[in-house]
Amino acid sequence: MNRSSRIPGFYKKSIEERVKAVADWAGLSPEEQAILRQGLGLAQADKMIENVVGVFSLPLGIGVNFLINGRDYLIPMVVEEPSVVAAVSNVARMAREGGGFQTGSTEPLMIAQVQLLDVPDIEKAAEAIRSARDELLAIANQFHPTIQRLGGGAKDVAVRVIEDTSVGTMLIVHLIYDTRDAMGANALNTAAEAIAPKLESLTGGRALLRILSNYSTLRRAWARVRIPPSAFGEGETKGKAVIRGIVAANAFAEADVYRAVTHNKGIMNGIDAVVMATGNDWRAVEAAAHAYAAKDGRYRSLTEWRESEDGSLEGYLELPMALGIVGGATRSHPQARVALKILGVRSAQELAEVVVAVGLAQNLAAIRALADEGIQKGHMSLHARQLALAAGARDDEVDAVAERLVQSGQIREETAREIIAEMRARN
Ligand code: MEV
Repeated sequence: MNRSSRIPGFYKKSIEERVKAVADWAGLSPEEQAILRQGLGLAQADKMIENVVGVFSLPLGIGVNFLINGRDYLIPMVVEEPSVVAAVSNVARMAREGGGFQTGSTEPLMIAQVQLLDVPDIEKAAEAIRSARDELLAIANQFHPTIQRLGGGAKDVAVRVIEDTSVGTMLIVHLIYDTRDAMGANALNTAAEAIAPKLESLTGGRALLRILSNYSTLRRAWARVRIPPSAFGEGETKGKAVIRGIVAANAFAEADVYRAVTHNKGIMNGIDAVVMATGNDWRAVEAAAHAYAAKDGRYRSLTEWRESEDGSLEGYLELPMALGIVGGATRSHPQARVALKILGVRSAQELAEVVVAVGLAQNLAAIRALADEGIQKGHMSLHARQLALAAGARDDEVDAVAERLVQSGQIREETAREIIAEMRARN
């Protein structure tokens, strides 16, 4: 079996041909292939959340061409925005010319917080907590034997003091917990609640909030890429000019918050799409990413792009990435299960690294287009397809309507409706 994720013309294949290619790649059973097409059933949805009245679907596409740490990946992506999947696949193809993406990550260490109020003696309380570290870890470790068996569990305790004029001095306890392949929200919240009574007796204070922190600064992943100027496809000189444009685009996002937010939004286009496809909590990832972008006290670009000495483009992205491959919707959502099988990741850490590589690629796709011909040209032909659909074009009409919309220069739903009516009248 050909295990290269470099699949030329994937976008030109029919849906059935694409499913077949992905099924061959990942060894999907006929049932799993059916799940790809069908998605979440109403009865399953009713078990996932409350007050269900339906299932809201989004397109599930495949990012192709990814080479990460020498391994090929097909990337399931859930996103409503046209051109995200095409653009990221295109950059992944270019990145292969420089050897693909190199990634790394920390151990999956999360933080749970306990807020202690009305502590009579802060210094003494902090010392008492530090001295009771092993006992606190033992309490926290009573609940998830599987995580512990796999080498995870509560690992450490840290104390912080926060002054507040309205509620007085707060003692904040951080429980550091290795969640292994789980995102770990449940394990963390259980552990935080479990140690709270002991913290109260140690400090004489009152425990209020007991909850994980989604700012998972200890659980980070990073990705690097190096792309030679020739990969930009239009000769060395043009390639170098594009690279300088990309570096200047990044400088803009480093210096200006208005640009940085849009720049980082482009990164999250790719990241959220994979996070969603795998049934993970994209709000948690988003919240952490933006806080991380402001970690130096000013919100800035999450990526770094520079021209290396040999004239290549070098990019780097690092951010907190709390993802799971077991538990929650990663297992209960049938498509998420299949998406994880397609990805073939063997750990939550590997998933986090793949996701960050996708974010880096997505950012490059955006700023490369912006620094060159602008994004509207590519965007508009894809946008035209969406408008054609919205205007009521049938599957066999969409491409022709979109093409005529682009030619007309009037990419509006009303124009699409006129074109459809005219085409039907002629046929
Ligand atoms: C659109 O969804 C994302 C971009 O605006 C990102 C960027 O400007 O870098 C194209």
